[in-house]
Amino acid sequence: MSNRLEGKVALVTGTGSGIGQGCALMFARHGAQVMGCDINAEAAEETLATAKKENLTYHSIQPCDLTKPEAVNALVDATIERYGKIDILVNAAAFAAFEFIEDMDFEQHWKTTLSGELDVVFLACKAAWKQMVKQNSGSIINFASANAYEALKGSGALAHCAGKGGVLAMTRQLAMEGAPHNIRANSISPGMIVTGATKPVLDNTPGFEEHVLEKTMLNRLGQPEDVAWCALFLASDESSWITASDFAVDGGVTKW
Ligand SMILES: NC(=O)c1ccc[n+]([C@@H]2O[C@H](COP(=O)([O-])OP(=O)(O)OC[C@H]3O[C@@H](n4cnc5c(N)ncnc54)[C@H](O)[C@@H]3O)[C@@H](O)[C@H]2O)c1
Repeated sequence: MSNRLEGKVALVTGTGSGIGQGCALMFARHGAQVMGCDINAEAAEETLATAKKENLTYHSIQPCDLTKPEAVNALVDATIERYGKIDILVNAAAFAAFEFIEDMDFEQHWKTTLSGELDVVFLACKAAWKQMVKQNSGSIINFASANAYEALKGSGALAHCAGKGGVLAMTRQLAMEGAPHNIRANSISPGMIVTGATKPVLDNTPGFEEHVLEKTMLNRLGQPEDVAWCALFLASDESSWITASDFAVDGGVTKW
């Protein structure tokens, strides 16, 4: 579609679904050499098959559990071995358990969510960091959320809010630590995007979609591509003077 990411290598996590899948395919369509991964092997393979059908430069490792340091290190090593470098790291994979506090179990919900939203970002950044320092360049794109800024009525998002507030703060710190090495770090805070994570809730919770839309200036839910366009800009040299920033891709929901 364009050569905006020509010559760049992108490691994208969570490519089996939603935003990770949207970013990985869009980046490859705009010239990047992409490495994907997911804990869900079947889903990641479907994305890989789509990429192959389009003749994109795309490889993928699955299953890969990003909460496991050895798996993340192997993923980064495989990316460097295949493509020689890592210009872009998109941390889209995440897992969150949604429960109200009365029903939130410490191990099963709280700790799993913090690991599924924070460890996965830390471990991937840590593993890719040495290579980015060596290159003296890199663009890290993390996903916070509208939930890092405001509560959504009817959503048991306590652990998720903590995780996403953490990603927002971590990204700022990563930007500060990366700046001397020309490593940029930014986050995107999506509003309600229709993905594998949200579709079941939207479909099965009466009145939930209407409630979200009531607050959304642009009066529609987001699609993975809406987020991927912002990520593409942040991944490219077009954003070379942007770091430590968070981008609301939310149809105006947090401002209304
Ligand atoms: N969809 C939304 O409305 C929304 C809103 C705000 C923020 N976000 C954030 O955007 C990112 C992507 O969300 P999405 O809706 O596309 O999610 P999704 O659930 O549709 O896709 C996430 C993918 O990550 C994979 N994954 C989860 N844990 C993993 C692990 N430990 N190792 C490897 N892979 C793992 C899943 O298998 C899945 O394929 C997440 O960080 C999410 O919190 C999404």
